[in-house]
Amino acid sequence: MRLKVEKLKVNFKTLEEFKKFKEYGIQELSMLEDLEANMVDNDSESPFYGIYFGDKLVARMSLYQIEAKFDRYFYPPQSYLELWKLEVLPEYQGKGYGRTLVDFAKSFGIPIKTNPRVKSSTFWEKMEFTPVDYEMERDRGENPLVWYPKGVEAQHH
Ligand code: COA
Repeated sequence: MRLKVEKLKVNFKTLEEFKKFKEYGIQELSMLEDLEANMVDNDSESPFYGIYFGDKLVARMSLYQIEAKFDRYFYPPQSYLELWKLEVLPEYQGKGYGRTLVDFAKSFGIPIKTNPRVKSSTFWEKMEFTPVDYEMERDRGENPLVWYPKGVEAQHH
């Protein structure tokens, strides 16, 4: 089966689907408030991508492009994608949904940074993500993992 990744629109249906995910939090709540207060249009763009099984959203991630001038993870500084909230609903795990979303992120051809959840390290190793260079500045409590497009190696000072 070929899995199709879709960019998710901000609307009440999407936000209802998001409630099934464990990492439902401030970001989703503020999207909901903005919709209710008509501060954003129904069906406006969201940073989320997802995969549907029938009409049910079963996997999602948020993808955000960070400009080089704000980069604190790569040397020399460059534009990269921040990948977060990757989650596959329990009954759909282990069927390739997570890999399909990560491959989609990789297809942009720029480095990716993520902060993995505990116990997901085997998955991220398989996705060829590696711990960020410890010489780089990092946030407290963060254990970022990064991925580089082929041919772009990490450079050292
Ligand atoms: N532990 C070890 N390996 C894992 C794994 C896990 N928890 N989840 C996936 N993998 C491996 C798969 O075996 C597969 O390897 P293969 O290609 O060699 O067969 C590869 O990673 C890709 O698997 P995929 O089917 O795409 O993973 P997924 O759709 O289940 O997505 C997560 C992976 C982690 C995003 C998803 O399972 C999830 O949202 N889990 C939520 C809970 C969580 O973080 N669990 C971590 C373990 S408790």
